[in-house]
Amino acid sequence: MQTITLPRPDDWHLHLRDGAMLRAVLPESARHFARAIVMPNLVPPVVTLDDAKAYRDRILAALPDGMAFEPLMTLYLTETTDPADVAAAAASGLIKAVKLYPAGATTNSQSGVRDLTRVMPVLETMARIGLPLCTHGEVTDPAIDIFDREAAFIDTVLVPLRHRLPELRVVMEHITTEEAAAYVAEGGDTLAATITTHHLILNRNHILAGGIRPHYYCLPVAKREKHRLALRRAATSGSPSYFLGTDSAPHVDALKEHACGCAGCFTATNTMPLLAHVFEEEAALDRLEGFASRHGPAFYGLPVNAGTLRLEKRADPCIWPDKIHSDAGPVTVFNPGFPVHWHVATEQI
Ligand code: NCD
Ligand code: ZN
Repeated sequence: MQTITLPRPDDWHLHLRDGAMLRAVLPESARHFARAIVMPNLVPPVVTLDDAKAYRDRILAALPDGMAFEPLMTLYLTETTDPADVAAAAASGLIKAVKLYPAGATTNSQSGVRDLTRVMPVLETMARIGLPLCTHGEVTDPAIDIFDREAAFIDTVLVPLRHRLPELRVVMEHITTEEAAAYVAEGGDTLAATITTHHLILNRNHILAGGIRPHYYCLPVAKREKHRLALRRAATSGSPSYFLGTDSAPHVDALKEHACGCAGCFTATNTMPLLAHVFEEEAALDRLEGFASRHGPAFYGLPVNAGTLRLEKRADPCIWPDKIHSDAGPVTVFNPGFPVHWHVATEQI
């Protein structure tokens, strides 16, 4: 039997939500992941250090007994964010990054940034103290085609921003294009990217050909096949510039299977088996450890986890629940559409 043992992995981009949804989805992440960068796009958003402290307490209170999980908190950047609060938040050790949502780009981004010049004092402070900026890298101009919005963000926002503030540490979150993978490859050690599990599996045909599949719809939306292949090359390259951020983003089925459905794929449950499958297909199983367990901590200046996670390839395919039940309603678990034989066998905390 083939097995692979990794230092316990982390998820560098995760939506845990709040209340009933938080209670339902948190164990799905904590079962396999030691830590996660927790996205701040609640309603209302997590804007201040006090908001983040309170949210962290709610996450820890929702963690079932016997599970070990460390939420790494982020602040939601708004045009009224106070640079001094951000500096204090970073100094407290509680905040690991600030998240830039261009206003209107995605779920709960309406409090985000319309005009980047208004947040320059915050970004200058972050560059000075070394606090990473996580970006939802899509422009929101309605005239720009949705499939081009990530590439346009690089040219019109990231290039000028990084030219102006070369010290700023930036994570391009959930990259979906060849252009983003190439830009990050040239970015040196102040630039990195997270890649999701589902963007290594889906192209836009999976969403749209033969019927519309709302559970494959997320933002940034999956692109053409050549982009999926470029993401696979980046993730399995061994380069420390790319690491796992699942962007697991639960929405209840009623809001996914809807005339105007929400964006997000829920992958917390089965990400590690799916990644082992993908990395094996790319003949890169030995590089899964870097992608899932080492490159993220290196970028964020944190230690690699002491515990381990062991995956085993078995004759029987994995059987996952179709849905996770929450008191807010059912959430469909990401279905890759093919059998997966890599099982999470044991975990040592
Ligand atoms: C995320 C969500 O639902 O919060 N949705 C998604 O499609 N990825 C927001 C985001 O990361 O864009
Ligand atoms: Zn996200």
